[in-house]
Amino acid sequence: MTENLSFKDKVVIITGAGGGLGRVYALEFAKRGANVVVNDLGGSLGGEGHNSRAADVVVKEIQEKYKVRAAANYDSVTDNAAGIVKTAIDSFGRVDVVVNNAGILRDSSFAKMQDAAFDAVVDVHLNGAYKLTKAAWPIFKRQNFGRVVNTCSPAGLYGNFGQANYSAAKLGLVGFSETLAKEGYKSNIFVNCIVPLARSRMTERIIPPHILKNLAPEKIAPMVLYLSHESTKVTNSIFELAAGYYSQIRWERSSGQIFNPDPKTFTSEAILNQWKSVVDYHDKPFNKVTHPIQLSDYNALITKARQLPANDQGTTAINSL
Ligand code: NAI
Repeated sequence: MTENLSFKDKVVIITGAGGGLGRVYALEFAKRGANVVVNDLGGSLGGEGHNSRAADVVVKEIQEKYKVRAAANYDSVTDNAAGIVKTAIDSFGRVDVVVNNAGILRDSSFAKMQDAAFDAVVDVHLNGAYKLTKAAWPIFKRQNFGRVVNTCSPAGLYGNFGQANYSAAKLGLVGFSETLAKEGYKSNIFVNCIVPLARSRMTERIIPPHILKNLAPEKIAPMVLYLSHESTKVTNSIFELAAGYYSQIRWERSSGQIFNPDPKTFTSEAILNQWKSVVDYHDKPFNKVTHPIQLSDYNALITKARQLPANDQGTTAINSL
């Protein structure tokens, strides 16, 4: 029999929970007994303006539907992340989960992108997640428990025309998460990234309606809750989620090529000659395609490179070592 993933007595902060994906997460956490801090600045898609209504409506919806406590917070993640944590502590006395979800878009081609558009998008997505997580971190450490879900994007992983600012911020969150996962592990603080695709005001004007109809935000929430639960041991991971299709994304290193570092032969021409081997994603007899998850995974390769005989004529394939 499958365990029921309850969040009773847990306190969950969700940024940008006044609409879109965040609202759905908030309702689902509440349904499972969590006390939720519904943070939302209530601004436009571009991040202009503010309004308490967005958060208030979701808090009311939670209270009416699930009879659990919820608290609204209207701070911007960029200006007063500590205030969001304070709302959780003042209202519920603790914080267990942070879902960094707040986001804005200011798209334009890179040639036309203004500094302000780049800075604002990085500020909300990346700096906002940093500031809120930083404010919650000492609490997580003290209680030896914490879950962080950061929201990346396909545009961050793969790039997307007109979204240099957004892509930079979103992939920045991947590196941020991977480091926090390592630093938090011993304190039972697990950190993961999701890469969603869902119907919301962010996508309704760019994705055709026949595809949008399959992209209910409710199809993203189950993974967010799973990653946030105390029973989950998953950390340091990236999950791509859309329309009910869930998968994991990881780094892959080609089997590669080790060059003799002799400056006479270690030239750009040597690289040209061995290019296919550098970008080869097939295992070689002594060197495999790998999926690194930490810096030290690089060490074996460096050791191999250093073992190359001094009289080697360069461009030695890894499989000849
Ligand atoms: P949305 O626009 O409906 O929700 C974002 C919410 O964040 C809004 O309610 C907004 O008021 C709030 N917000 C914006 N700036 C804020 C700030 N400084 N402080 C507090 N709240 C702020 O969009 P959606 O689609 O629900 O996006 C949620 C997250 O998912 C975002 O991080 C977005 O980049 C990400 N995402 C969404 C995808 C999708 O397909 N909808 C695809 C990939 C990523």
